[in-house]
Amino acid sequence: MNRHYASPKGTAAYPRGSSAFLNGFQPRSQPALRRRRQLFQRLILLGGVSLLLVIFIFPSWRAAILPALSLGLFHPAADLHLQTVRYYDLSEVQGTERGWERGERVLMLTPLRDASSHLPMFFSHLRNLTYPHNLIDLAFLVSDSRDDTLNMLTEMLQELQNDSDPKMAFGEISVIQKDFGQKVQQDVESRHTFQAQANRRKLMAQARNWLLSATLRPTHSWVYWRDADVETAPFTILEDLMRHNKDVIVPNVWRPLPDWLGGEQPYDLNSWQESETALALADTLDEDAVIVEGYAEYATWRPHLAYLRDPYGDPDMEMELDGIGGVSILAKAKVFRSGVHFPAFSFEKHAETEGFGKMAKRMKYSVIGLPHYVIWHLYEPSLDDLRHMEEMKQEQEALEREEKERQLAAQKEGQMKSQNVAAAKGSDEGPAAQPLKDAGKGSSNK
Ligand SMILES: *[C@@H]1O[C@H](CO)[C@@H](O)[C@H](O)[C@H]1NC(C)=O
Ligand SMILES: *[C@@H]1O[C@H](CO)[C@@H](O)[C@H](O)[C@H]1NC(C)=O
Repeated sequence: MNRHYASPKGTAAYPRGSSAFLNGFQPRSQPALRRRRQLFQRLILLGGVSLLLVIFIFPSWRAAILPALSLGLFHPAADLHLQTVRYYDLSEVQGTERGWERGERVLMLTPLRDASSHLPMFFSHLRNLTYPHNLIDLAFLVSDSRDDTLNMLTEMLQELQNDSDPKMAFGEISVIQKDFGQKVQQDVESRHTFQAQANRRKLMAQARNWLLSATLRPTHSWVYWRDADVETAPFTILEDLMRHNKDVIVPNVWRPLPDWLGGEQPYDLNSWQESETALALADTLDEDAVIVEGYAEYATWRPHLAYLRDPYGDPDMEMELDGIGGVSILAKAKVFRSGVHFPAFSFEKHAETEGFGKMAKRMKYSVIGLPHYVIWHLYEPSLDDLRHMEEMKQEQEALEREEKERQLAAQKEGQMKSQNVAAAKGSDEGPAAQPLKDAGKGSSNK
């Protein structure tokens, strides 16, 4: 019956067997379809119930799930993807010489360790930066700190982001916490310090890599490393360095000194050019050895960026470097994206920032220093300096006491003399007054 009803005109053209198969299949397929449909309905019901459960049990997921659902109801399927899939064109974030005009984002990274005393100064620098703050994302690594760094940082960040001037607030801010077992350096013999130096640098390298890899986003064109203990730097430092359009660039870093120590001094000796002597030395060293600059143990005779400074030199003058220091580094984000990092092992006999410079060079990136563009590191007196300063203070006080006594003596003498002169010649002011003037400004004669 079914067969006749279903047979259109052309049925006769089909072989009988085929027709029989078709018709014979259909009746049996009906319950199967129904079962499948029921299964689907149950699955959908089950899915709906679990979704509701999830939404009520994990309220934090609501934000993620509800918009996706509502979008799914009102828009074609393609829009559903927008919520969870992001597309980035990294050719747009290469970094150019006028990044501030093109809206290029900078990731500014600062490792902190027992730094609470430096934070007010650091935040003053942040506020003074002329690069558009909304284009700068800040990231801090707080590690191995025994002081109040973290709490203070949190407070100051809230204050900064809540400033009444809307131009003051920065972009995204990340605070990362992780200890690396960096021990507080005790006052030990200098030889020991020299050996401890390599280990310290390797730990510091790890800290930098953690901070960077946790916070670098596809939106960043530049990465700026800046230490918290910089005392003086131009407000335009980001633009000044960026204008050179180099892959890696550092300023010269000096520090002010008290007058008795000469007034100023090169600070960062990690920025240098490779020398034949140093290469020959490196060849003689163990594979795991790390050369650290500024110690007599390794006389490398390298040209240091710091020593090439001329206070009247052109601040835009460039110098090719191999190793660099970490106080203030501006680098294109692509340098890190392509795998250059801070080696926490001996890379060409160097670690951390010096190893970073060498690795960037190996990957054919430009590594540049500016000998006459200077920023100033905070001067923190060493124990020796403090001792010396205490001695000088005592000497100074002794001198002042002596001076006072001499003045008093001179005063008395002068009074006696002038009394004598007055007695002899009346009130005439004569050469007798001279010694009083020589006695200095404390003179009670005036
Ligand atoms: C920031 O700018 C203000 C005003 O010019 C200045 O007083 C302050 O010293 C600057 N801060 C730093 C750290 O240079
Ligand atoms: C933000 O600033 C306003 C006033 O400018 C102040 O009332 C508010 O308490 C501040 N909020 C925080 C979290 O500091």
